[in-house]
Amino acid sequence: MDRQIGDAVSDFLAGKVIAVTGAGRGIGRAVALACAAEGASVVINDYGVSVAGEEPSSEVAQAVADEVTGLGGTAVPVADTVTTMEGGQRIVRAAVDKFGRLDGAVCVAGILRERMLFNMTEQEWDPVLATHLKGTFTVFRAAAAVMRGQRSGSLVGFTSGNHAGSVSQANYSAAKGGIVSLVRSAALGLHRYGVTANAVAPVARTRMSAGVPTQLAEIGEPEDVAPLVVYLLSDAAREVTGQVYTAVGGKIAVWNQPREVRAMYADGRWTPEQIAARLPASIGQERMPMLDQLAAMAKAAAAGDRPNA
Ligand SMILES: NC(=O)c1ccc[n+]([C@@H]2O[C@H](COP(=O)([O-])OP(=O)(O)OC[C@H]3O[C@@H](n4cnc5c(N)ncnc54)[C@H](O)[C@@H]3O)[C@@H](O)[C@H]2O)c1
Repeated sequence: MDRQIGDAVSDFLAGKVIAVTGAGRGIGRAVALACAAEGASVVINDYGVSVAGEEPSSEVAQAVADEVTGLGGTAVPVADTVTTMEGGQRIVRAAVDKFGRLDGAVCVAGILRERMLFNMTEQEWDPVLATHLKGTFTVFRAAAAVMRGQRSGSLVGFTSGNHAGSVSQANYSAAKGGIVSLVRSAALGLHRYGVTANAVAPVARTRMSAGVPTQLAEIGEPEDVAPLVVYLLSDAAREVTGQVYTAVGGKIAVWNQPREVRAMYADGRWTPEQIAARLPASIGQERMPMLDQLAAMAKAAAAGDRPNA
C-alpha cells in the first residue's frame, strides 16, 4: 500500500461507511484497503469461494478485515453470500449495526463458469447470473432502502468490457450487461434521494483474469482500479451518476449511453419486403467491433495461443 491506514495523507472518505462485496481477494480487496486508507469504516464481505463459486470459507473475509485493523483502520467481516436476499440484508445490516449508517455499497463479488453457448448447462448459467446480477441486486436493494432514508449514498456495480459481447462467456456477459442496466435504473430511480449509481469495468491481474482463455490487450493491477472507486464514493462525485467507466492500469475511459442512431419510417406499417428493400441502405447495421476480431481469435485458438480480446 502506498498509504498507511491510520495516518492517511488524504481523507477522501473520512467518516464514511462503505460495504464492499468480494473484498477478500483481487480487486475487491484493493478497493476495501483503499477505502480504509482514505478514512472509511469498511464492511468486508466475501464468501471465500473458488473462481467457479465453490467451497465457501469464512477465513477470506476475516483475513482482509484483520489486515485493515492491523494497519489501524476500521473493518468488520461478513462471510456471507450475495446470492440471497438475506445475504444482501446482512451485509448492509452489518454496516448500520456496527457503524450507524451506510454511505457506499460496492459490488465486486464475481465467479466464472466458461462454456460455449451451445454446450452451456443450467448449472453454468444460474450461479453466474446469481452471483453477478442478483448479487448486485440483493446488496443494492438493501443499501438503497438505507440510503433513501439518509438522502445520500453511492452505489457502485462491477461490469466488464465484455458486457458488449463474448465468444465463450455468454452467461458472464449477460450478467455484466444486466449490471449496467441495473446501475442505470438505480441512477434514475434514486436520483431524487441524492443517491448515485455507477459501474466500473476493470481489467486487472487476479486469479480470475489469469484463467480466461484470452490474451487481454490491456491489463493492470487491482490497486489501479481502486482510486476510481474511491472517487465515485466521495463527495467530489455527487453529480456523477448513471456512468460506466473502464479502469485499467493508468487508463480511465467513459462508455457511451445506448441510444438510437438512425431511423426509417413507413406510411403506416412496414411489410417484410419493404424492410428488405430499404433497411440495408437506409439505417443498415451498427457493426460489432468484436466481429472483426473473430477470425484472428479462431486462428490463435487453433494454433494453441491465447486469442486476442
Ligand atoms: N480481473 C479482471 O480483469 C476483471 C475484468 C472484468 C471484470 N472483472 C470483475 O471484477 C470483479 C472482481 O474480480 P477479480 O478479478 O478481483 O476476482 P477474484 O476471483 O480475485 O475475486 C472475487 C471475489 O468474489 C468472491 N465471491 C464470489 N462469489 C461470492 C458470493 N456469492 N458472495 C460473496 N463473495 C463472493 C470470491 O470469494 C472472491 O474473493 C468481478 O465482478 C469480475 O467479474 C474483473
